[in-house]
Amino acid sequence: MKFDAPITIALSKGRIFNQSLPLLAHAGIEPADDPEKSRKLILDTNHEQVKLVIIRATDVPTYVEYGAADLGIAGKDVLLEHGGEGLYEPLDLNIARCRMMTAGYPDAVEQKGRLRVATKYVKSAQRYFAARGEQVEIIKLYGSMELAPIVGLADIIVDLVESGNTLKANGLVPLEHITDISSRLVVNKASWKMKHGLIMQLIEAFREAVKK
Ligand code: PRP
Repeated sequence: MKFDAPITIALSKGRIFNQSLPLLAHAGIEPADDPEKSRKLILDTNHEQVKLVIIRATDVPTYVEYGAADLGIAGKDVLLEHGGEGLYEPLDLNIARCRMMTAGYPDAVEQKGRLRVATKYVKSAQRYFAARGEQVEIIKLYGSMELAPIVGLADIIVDLVESGNTLKANGLVPLEHITDISSRLVVNKASWKMKHGLIMQLIEAFREAVKK
């Protein structure tokens, strides 16, 4: 690919960065640094015009929406919370796959009364329980949701489950499946217009890599 305009791609380090590397490579993009080793927030690549900004997963939609990045790679969990307006989501990259689920002790929902649900996915949880006509109390947490049922902060949690090992290690079980999660390519609306040719080529390259 020929990069005839500056392109900035926002993504988070860890699983998403690692699983994005083969997709980026298929588009001919190779980062100059490893974000696990470097403290740099903007990584150069083998193309002068292409930069990667390494930010928190929950900030990726915001950077892309406001045009601080042309493109981003973000989990569907994060996009559901962000709301998804203000950016395009043209491609499921099929990476960082897991499930959003309710979880708790096996008998958690047998108890009567209004359930207390701890989660960082407040909007997704609200939508899920509203669709079922269930009145619940949602408690916003920022991490380690598994702890909430153990210490009696909540009856159940809404969290991501991949292997199920974290739940198991804490004596909890997955209960109900809410939705499948994977990472998506998101695109700034102005960039979509202004750099259309280049962005279409990138989407095509990613699409081919996803199919493999
Ligand atoms: C996620 C999630 C669970 C865990 C599930 O956390 O919140 O805690 O992974 O994975 P498992 O089913 O394979 O055990 P992550 O490690 O992404 O960190 P986070 O809590 O910062 O989101």
